[in-house]
Amino acid sequence: LDDRDHVTKIRNIDLLLFGQYLIKPWYYSPYPDDAPTPRRVLYVCPFCLKYIWTARSITWHRSHCKKKKPPGRAVYIKHKRKIYEVDGKVDKLYCQNLCLLTKLFLDHKTVYFDMEQFMFYILTESGTDKKEGEHIVGYFSKEKQSFESYNLACILILPPYQRQGYGRMLIEFSYELSKREGKIGSPERPLSDLGWLGYRSYWQSVLIDIFRNNVGARPSIRDISLLTSIHEDDIVDTLESMDMLRYWQDENTIW
Ligand code: ACO
Ligand code: ZN
Repeated sequence: LDDRDHVTKIRNIDLLLFGQYLIKPWYYSPYPDDAPTPRRVLYVCPFCLKYIWTARSITWHRSHCKKKKPPGRAVYIKHKRKIYEVDGKVDKLYCQNLCLLTKLFLDHKTVYFDMEQFMFYILTESGTDKKEGEHIVGYFSKEKQSFESYNLACILILPPYQRQGYGRMLIEFSYELSKREGKIGSPERPLSDLGWLGYRSYWQSVLIDIFRNNVGARPSIRDISLLTSIHEDDIVDTLESMDMLRYWQDENTIW
C-alpha cells in the first residue's frame, strides 16, 4: 500500500449538482481538476453527462444543451422506462463521463479509459412532461468479449433512485442478455457491499421462483444454471446462504 496514493484518494468533490439533485459524493473520482477551491461543487448535465465547475458555465450549458436522452438505441421499453444500448467505441466521451460519475459512488473500481471494449446499458425514465426528456437513472457496463464469462462489469443506480427496484431490473436484464447469447454469466469481481446485497437478493428470488414452480421436482444445479444463465458457483453460494444445500458424495444436493 502506497501512503501517498491513499492521500490522493480522499473524497475530492463536496457536492454534485446532477440536474435537479444535490448529491453528496461517497468517494474520490479523478475528474480533471481545475476546480475553484476550497468548496468544490461539480455540475454534471443529466443528459450529455458533461462536467462543469463554474456557475456561469453551468447556466450557459443548461440553456444550450440540446440533448434530451442518452446516445445509442433503445433496446428495451416499458412504460416510462427505457434501456439504451451505447457502444463505448462510438460514444466514447459520454461513456468516459459516465465512468467518472460512477467512481463518485464506487470505491474499488479504477476508472478505465479503454471504452472501446465495453457496451453500456443506460436505464432512463421520462418525466410526466415530454419536454423534461429521458433522464438517466443508472446503468451497467459489459465487456464485448469476456474471457472470464462476466456478463456485467460495473453497475450503478444513482443515489436518488436507489432502493426502488431499478438495480434489480438491470441485473435481470443482464441475465436476459446472457440467455440470448446462450451463455452462463456472472458479475465481475470484486463486488461492493451494495453489489452483493443486490445480487444475493436477485439470485435468491430466482431460485425461490424455480422451487415454487417445480414442487416435487429435483432440478440439478446444472439444470438451474442452464435455465437462468446464473453461474453454478453463484447458485451454490446462494443456496448455502439460504441453508438449502447438503454435500453428498461430492455432489451438491438441494434440499
Ligand atoms: N441496504 C440493504 N439492502 C439493499 C440495499 C441497502 N442499502 N440496497 C439494495 N439492497 C438489496 C435489497 O435486498 C433489495 O431488495 P429490497 O429493496 O426488496 O429489500 C435488493 O438489494 C435490490 O434493490 P434495488 O432497489 O433493486 O437496488 P438499487 O436500485 O438500489 O441498486 C446497486 C443496487 C446498483 C448496487 C446500488 O446500490 C448502487 O448503485 N450502489 C453504488 C455502486 C455499487 O456499489 N455498485 C455495485 C458494484 S459491484 C459491480 O459493479 C460488479
Ligand atoms: Zn448537456
